[in-house]
Amino acid sequence: MIIRLEKPEEYRAVENLTREAFWNVYRPGCTEHFVLHQYRNNPDFIPELDFVMEEGCLIGHVMFSKAELVLNDGSKKPSWTFGPISIHPDYKRKGYGLRLLQYALEEARKLGVGFLCMEGNIDFYKHAGFVLASTFHIHYHDFPKEEEVPFFLAQELIPGWLAAQGIEEATYCPPKGYFVADEDPEAFEAYDATFPQKEKLRLPGQLGYDGVFLESGRIVLRPWLEKDAAALYKYASDPEVGPRAGWPPHKSIGESLEIIRTVFHSDTTWAIVLKETGEPLGAMGYMSSEGNLLPSREGEPLVGYWVGKPYWNRGICTEALQLMLDHIRKTTEIKSLIGSHFIDNPASGRVMEKSGFVPTGETCVDESLAGSDSPMRVLRLEIK
Ligand SMILES: CC(C)(COP(=O)(O)OP(=O)(O)OC[C@H]1O[C@@H](n2cnc3c(N)ncnc32)[C@H](O)[C@@H]1OP(=O)(O)O)[C@@H](O)C(=O)NCCC(=O)NCCS
Repeated sequence: MIIRLEKPEEYRAVENLTREAFWNVYRPGCTEHFVLHQYRNNPDFIPELDFVMEEGCLIGHVMFSKAELVLNDGSKKPSWTFGPISIHPDYKRKGYGLRLLQYALEEARKLGVGFLCMEGNIDFYKHAGFVLASTFHIHYHDFPKEEEVPFFLAQELIPGWLAAQGIEEATYCPPKGYFVADEDPEAFEAYDATFPQKEKLRLPGQLGYDGVFLESGRIVLRPWLEKDAAALYKYASDPEVGPRAGWPPHKSIGESLEIIRTVFHSDTTWAIVLKETGEPLGAMGYMSSEGNLLPSREGEPLVGYWVGKPYWNRGICTEALQLMLDHIRKTTEIKSLIGSHFIDNPASGRVMEKSGFVPTGETCVDESLAGSDSPMRVLRLEIK
């Protein structure tokens, strides 16, 4: 493994590496490669601290930037930050990132970099000597001074550097160079389009993640919210809807609210929202089939759905099911799904068949469901 300075002829390859490393990690897609690209000509960029890591091919990169600390009297003192730091996805979680960082920090110290601030996960960066910046009375811009900012970290590379500069307390704002993609989204999009196409996904663990949002032509699948209680009641109180799916009609908005807080409080249950109206008009989801009487395979999830009656027979449920199946295929290891419908509810069977489900030939009766005197037809979708 070699760590050395980056060469200008490697810029493009390193920016692509950065893109691979950050793609869908903190947000759908990423912009870090554009930040790096723009920094090349930025006076804050430090070419002597612009390292790549090789293991047969390029597998890592880190850059440093000049930054500023603002003292309480408004005066400014120079300091430093670093990032993006990238390790190719195939080499992550093998210790390469820490080795690259430790090397770069040592080189930075030798160059006289006395104090670094950065945003990151303390559980990782503590191994490279970082602590919460509040330890040094350094505050993060946009946050109240008294607030502990858990992702705002710092390190005195040269012990006593802050005191030697007369800095007892200060505020840090990342340099402008880190905001280029927000400032010029069109330039970013044009630049990103020069790379191979990659799909942007909203995934658990990303910043601001608050559920999976899925979108297709007419609809959005999004988590149910408490404010949806009245809309849910409007459709779920209809005696034509719930009993067809095996549940009794809702009797009050309070009951609908309770369902949102319990049954619908799941990463795999979505409100079907028609873009045109913004209103939830049905539900789509999958759940464990354990404990019901279906002839399911071990661990095989069960699909469930319904749509408010005014919206029936417009292909909305099929669109929602296909959207969810697409998401399942891309983000899970689920091998097959099971579904069932009462024999006297053929529309539901059509929704599954149109999405690739095939009847297993079995019928069953589930006494735990409303309408349990009616037998159900079983269908299965093979995925992998
Ligand atoms: C079942 C349900 C979700 C379908 O939603 P939807 O948005 O109307 O479904 P789609 O428009 O995508 O597809 C419905 C299909 O059923 C067909 N269909 C409707 N009524 C039918 C009937 N009586 N017999 C046979 N097919 C019928 C439609 O023609 C359409 O198929 P097509 O596109 O081949 O013409 C909706 O009727 C519903 O919410 N019912 C109450 C709850 C429920 O039954 N949930 C499922 C429990 S298993």
